[in-house]
Amino acid sequence: MENLDELREELLSAVAAADSVDALESIRVSALGRKGRVTELMKGLGKLDADERRVAGQSLNAVKTAVSDAIDARQGGLADAALESELAAERVDITLPVRSESEGRLHPISQTFDEIIAIFGEMGFSVAEGPDIEDDFHNFTALNIPPEHPARQMHDTFYLPEGPDGERPVLRTHTSPVQVRTMQTVTPPLRIIAPGRTYRCDSDMTHTPMFHQVEGLVIDKTSHMGHLKGCLIEFCRAYFEVPDVPARFRPSYFPFTEPSAEMDIGCSRSGGELKIGAGDDWLEILGCGMVHPKVLAACGIDPNEYQGFAFGMGIERIAMLKYGIPDLRTFFDADMRWLRHYGFVPLEVPTLLRGLTP
Ligand code: PHE
Repeated sequence: MENLDELREELLSAVAAADSVDALESIRVSALGRKGRVTELMKGLGKLDADERRVAGQSLNAVKTAVSDAIDARQGGLADAALESELAAERVDITLPVRSESEGRLHPISQTFDEIIAIFGEMGFSVAEGPDIEDDFHNFTALNIPPEHPARQMHDTFYLPEGPDGERPVLRTHTSPVQVRTMQTVTPPLRIIAPGRTYRCDSDMTHTPMFHQVEGLVIDKTSHMGHLKGCLIEFCRAYFEVPDVPARFRPSYFPFTEPSAEMDIGCSRSGGELKIGAGDDWLEILGCGMVHPKVLAACGIDPNEYQGFAFGMGIERIAMLKYGIPDLRTFFDADMRWLRHYGFVPLEVPTLLRGLTP
């Protein structure tokens, strides 16, 4: 029989020298495969007598094990090395500037949402969402707008065909139903904003049937009107990027808040140009108030224990004010020239630290 020590050394050094997974595989086949050298020697064992066979068999097995272990170990090393070199070849330099030919632009609505989320995110609000198609309960009744309530006429509602329960679903007329859904599922304290699409059957210079709102809701045991004011004034400063934004809160009415207010911010108009900040004029920008105890109760929250505030504003409106976009309807024209002019570079993500707008 062949000298097994020599055979083992020869095979092991071939394994050590293999420089690819393929080369290793052909060594495995030539040594341990069906016609491999070790396998052939195994077949020869049958010709030996019993004692010799036992001794030679053990030695052969030891060679086989040593070679196959070495192959396994080498295989792992080679696979790692192959992955390393693949990764090195595919390296991407993420510090390179954006390629100038990228023409895509973010719509001002998306940009405004990102800015609002950045600001309220910093104040500890999280983002909540709800469906565009709502039921009567979430859009109206739970918000203290029972059937026949005159406030229903304030919303020119799109009704959908009657469902199996005999009720007509609606396209949500405001983002306030997301308040309801949040209060029903989250145990206070809670602090959310709900940005999204809203719908009203209305179309003229200043109204489109689909538009966007952001809703805010804070519920805990102590938040009061002072917190509401501070929170919204801070928001306006950050959003309009003007350090001095005078604000006033005018008493108003919403069925779901008590007391209710509309917030105005200071502005000036000279030569047909509107400027946000200290000036001689006021501009209404949002509705707000303390959540009505009946709304808390309808959502399963004890009004004797909890209280809080809510606000809602129109996204198109505050985007038009900040970016000087004169015509609401152009938001929905899908005109590339408009988007190239008013759009935003997608990788310039708004953050408070770096500035909201480039
Ligand atoms: N949902 C109101 C609207 O669409 C806005 C609002 C929200 C007012 C929350 C007060 C509190 O007109």
